[in-house]
Amino acid sequence: MSSYPIRSTPGDTAWFRAARFGMFIHWGLYALPARHEWVKTNEKISEEKYDQYFRHFDPDLYDAREWAKAAKAAGMKYAVLTTKHHEGFCMFDSQFTDYKCTNTPAGRDLVKEFVDAFRAEGLRVGFYYSLIDWHHPHFPIDIYHPRRDDPDAFEQNRGRDMKIYAQYMRDQVRELLTNYGKIDILWFDWSYPDQHGGPGREWMRGKGRNEWESDQLIALARELQPGIIIDNRADVEQDLWTPEQYQVTEWVRHRETGELVTWEACQTFSGSWGYHRDESTWKSPEMLIRMLVNTVSCGGNLLMNVGPTARGEFDYRAKASLQVFADWMHGNSRAIYNCTMAEPDLLPSLPRDCRFTQSEDGSRLYIHLFAYPFGQLLLPGLAGKVEYAQFLHDGSEILMTEGKVDHFSEGAARGDGLLVLNLPAVKPAVTVPVVELFLK
Ligand code: GLC
Repeated sequence: MSSYPIRSTPGDTAWFRAARFGMFIHWGLYALPARHEWVKTNEKISEEKYDQYFRHFDPDLYDAREWAKAAKAAGMKYAVLTTKHHEGFCMFDSQFTDYKCTNTPAGRDLVKEFVDAFRAEGLRVGFYYSLIDWHHPHFPIDIYHPRRDDPDAFEQNRGRDMKIYAQYMRDQVRELLTNYGKIDILWFDWSYPDQHGGPGREWMRGKGRNEWESDQLIALARELQPGIIIDNRADVEQDLWTPEQYQVTEWVRHRETGELVTWEACQTFSGSWGYHRDESTWKSPEMLIRMLVNTVSCGGNLLMNVGPTARGEFDYRAKASLQVFADWMHGNSRAIYNCTMAEPDLLPSLPRDCRFTQSEDGSRLYIHLFAYPFGQLLLPGLAGKVEYAQFLHDGSEILMTEGKVDHFSEGAARGDGLLVLNLPAVKPAVTVPVVELFLK
């Protein structure tokens, strides 16, 4: 069996681990400047100037059904949309602010359309909700705030009341978890309780569970949507650990107990979450597929981000990247869904340049060939344990021999327990080819 004991948490995470692959969507006013979702603070843009994006937000090409179809075709099983990012702009029709899409030329509830469309395609839906808010008048100025370097920042900060803001968040989370049916994931973002402005600016305090009043916020979410999955970024441990923008090398463990946890890596196609017109570090097809495989081989999920344009579409580069997943998942999704880290004792020494995943029931082992080897793949310890082997994408048999490669074999190419897979000389036309082993 390859199902591992995982730290138990309040939310319903079983479906999530089986799903393995989701779409993150960062969409907001920052799609207009198109130079990172942090543009307001990176460039310390004034409210007045940022307002032009509010006045011009007109996503006339937005068709959530197209997004949902693209996500589904890419093999994604769920999606998480920014309902509000750090800029504070709401993509839904909130009663508690005027700073929302229904008051822009968009004129409609964009979250609602997202929920309806993704659900119609059979995908689960999640809401990202930013704890940080660079628009709300009661959000105290801190080191990340666009007004941090204003000469009168201290004066501007006076009278800002975090309690009022914390109540505002509860009001909005109540709306989000009441008005849109069943919501599967709530993705809070993020906390920095220990950071402050440094010498002379200690009053710029960081924010964490006390400031957000996270316990109340989470209790409310659980009351409204009992099974919902909540991430850990409200500075209170919940269901989901969220390593961001790096590749893990082993299953994420609980820092104190060492238990395996439910985790989800989030990654971008290029170097920005929001639509970034001029950013050019787009990941190659190989890198994209390897990220997904590597994640699942360490027992995690991948949440792959798309930053739609101001007109409301995925741009051509995002579409091409999604197509990479669609093509690969078409033939190889069996090595992803319901799969996890392979049993460690099955493979005493792993061949180079590969990753392994294994079906939850333990019956199938998948070898993902990151670099295509010449001729044979040597699997020490697996002789006698494999009933049949094939390439996954086309179901073509892979011949196996045991004990040695051939008459001339030396060293590691010979030995008891050695299983030899005889691969074709030419790499199949698949970004990362997968060998499927049916275990006895
Ligand atoms: C970070 C960033 C943010 C992005 C998020 C995604 O915390 O602040 O812009 O939304 O990561 O994980």
